[in-house]
Amino acid sequence: MGQYFANESLNSHLVKHEVKIFNRLYYFYTDNGVFSKSKMDYGSRFLLETVCTKIHSGKVLDVGCGYGTLGICIAKECGSAVDMIDINKRALHLAKRNAKENHATCNIYESNVYENVHEKYNYIITNPPIRAGKKIVYEILCHAKDHLEVEGVLFFVIRKNHGAKSILSDLEKIYDCNVLDKSNGFFVIEAKKR
Ligand SMILES: C[S@@+](CC[C@H](N)C(=O)[O-])C[C@H]1O[C@@H](n2cnc3c(N)ncnc32)[C@H](O)[C@@H]1O
Repeated sequence: MGQYFANESLNSHLVKHEVKIFNRLYYFYTDNGVFSKSKMDYGSRFLLETVCTKIHSGKVLDVGCGYGTLGICIAKECGSAVDMIDINKRALHLAKRNAKENHATCNIYESNVYENVHEKYNYIITNPPIRAGKKIVYEILCHAKDHLEVEGVLFFVIRKNHGAKSILSDLEKIYDCNVLDKSNGFFVIEAKKR
């Protein structure tokens, strides 16, 4: 089966969605070939609702931003300076359009994992691309520390049946980790740089 992030040649079918988050209406364009095109992903919403109050301005990197829900909402709700990266050109195009649509100022660019990331951040947030495989997921999670400032924090969401417990025990060797919340088999994890 093809992976959604490698399907940029699919026919376009642009759809505009209205989503209410924290009492604010957001508008997101989605398209074929991007993650969770028919509605905001449950895990992404759970991650956002769990961590938003923990992000106090500063610089944020959204890794694997897709069409932009996490980064755009954080820019609006937390007043942070947000950079967003993805490998999928169609997702990046949508994320740029969605940032404009929601009057969010975000710096959005292409990067395979952290290849084009040259800055450091106070927070890194990700709903990692499980379908890209364990190697990519571990690169995103383990190498976040190289792009975090001192005392920087990685926030991510992961499903119990996608190996949440073993990922947590591997990350505990690198970071100080806490499970912030659990819901419907999803874990939101905070990993603080040592
Ligand atoms: C689970 S989706 C999350 C999308 C978005 N953050 C959300 O919450 O709706 C994971 C994203 O990671 C991206 N991705 C996959 N492999 C990647 C890689 N090697 N480097 C950067 N992003 C990647 C995919 O294109 C996809 O948009």
